[in-house]
Amino acid sequence: MTPTHTIDGYAIVSDNHCIADADGNMPECLKNEADWAYFQAALDAATLTVIGRKGHAANPNHKNRRRLILSRSVKALEHRADGWWWNPAGHDWADVLRQVAPEGGAIAVPGGRDVFDLFLQLGYSSFHLARAQGTHVPDGTKLFSNLEVTTPEQMLVSHGLQQEPTGWLDKAERISMTIWRGNRR
Ligand SMILES: NC(=O)c1ccc[n+]([C@@H]2O[C@H](COP(=O)([O-])OP(=O)(O)OC[C@H]3O[C@@H](n4cnc5c(N)ncnc54)[C@H](OP(=O)(O)O)[C@@H]3O)[C@@H](O)[C@H]2O)c1
Repeated sequence: MTPTHTIDGYAIVSDNHCIADADGNMPECLKNEADWAYFQAALDAATLTVIGRKGHAANPNHKNRRRLILSRSVKALEHRADGWWWNPAGHDWADVLRQVAPEGGAIAVPGGRDVFDLFLQLGYSSFHLARAQGTHVPDGTKLFSNLEVTTPEQMLVSHGLQQEPTGWLDKAERISMTIWRGNRR
């Protein structure tokens, strides 16, 4: 039987849909203990974490989880001491899954922006969107690439995801969580 994978996105954004500040770093207003615990539990349960090269450099893999790092500096797919490195232009995603996660399972996607964009095209099974309500990050990196003209919610809807009811991850700190479900299983 063919192994099954889910593809699950995780992000926390400001009211203006930013994941990072103007210098490319995680702003203090997006750091929250309850969100971090939620995110870490998801990574612990995942077969594989897929992350951009900058996020990989900023967040060393202390727990030695299986990581796939996206970079245009590699030709196709390479196994290195710190994880698998992948250039989507050089190697097909289906074959990456066969080589890197042959047993199936949850593929956790914590971004950043171009990685979130790529998996919108490949198809999410779910997207876990936390929002630090009442925050604004000036000139930051947005969750997806064309959010000057639209919203994450509209992007997720237009890619076939449906919203579950929004709840609080941390009511006192006004951190909400909305899980979006896709057709991909
Ligand atoms: N708030 C949140 O939920 C959240 C989520 C994610 C990240 N962050 C924060 O955002 C910052 C990093 O995010 P970022 O968007 O600036 O960078 P990033 O996605 O972590 O890394 C960008 C790099 O990944 C590689 N890459 C991305 N898409 C690719 C593709 N389709 N093909 C080939 N290579 C690709 C490229 O590496 P090369 O330059 O090597 O080609 C690109 O320069 C960090 O501060 C991180 O903590 C926050």
